[in-house]
Amino acid sequence: MSLATDPIAALGAEHRTLGETLLRHQEALIERRLAEAASLLEAYERELLRHMAFEERHLLARCLGGGAARWPSEVYRAEHRRIRQLLRRSIERLTRARAAPLTAAGLIALLDEERTLKRLVEHHHEREEQALFVELGSAGAPPCADGDPAPGSAARSRPDGPGPVSRTR
Ligand SMILES: [Fe+2]
Ligand SMILES: [Fe+2]
Repeated sequence: MSLATDPIAALGAEHRTLGETLLRHQEALIERRLAEAASLLEAYERELLRHMAFEERHLLARCLGGGAARWPSEVYRAEHRRIRQLLRRSIERLTRARAAPLTAAGLIALLDEERTLKRLVEHHHEREEQALFVELGSAGAPPCADGDPAPGSAARSRPDGPGPVSRTR
């Protein structure tokens, strides 16, 4: 099953890759490899923003008009907005923390903040995989049947197309 022929599977695979990147970021954070931790969190943000923008443009905006969806598209959009907020806050907090020696309390505060983000993202991805992706996948047609490129094909050359999270290690 290739990315080009199964965009829903491609988006699901991106969920798992994103989770791995966040885990690698937190491993670096705990081991106080702060430059690497920051680089991984920025890569995570970049890929997650692109992933969500693709979903909004190609799945939520154009592909959920049938009224049979378990959740209205606004539910997904609201979660995307909250994820963007929490992610930006985590990056800013890490940037501030790097300006001075990181204490144990500071490290715990960073991880606490990221736990909220991590739980929301996991919950959101579960919702998509159990509802949105199933609904689009069972429709018997590509989720974007209006001529847009499928994830993993021409989308790689698009600024908002899904693609793999870059690995920096
Ligand atoms: Fe999403
Ligand atoms: Fe997603």
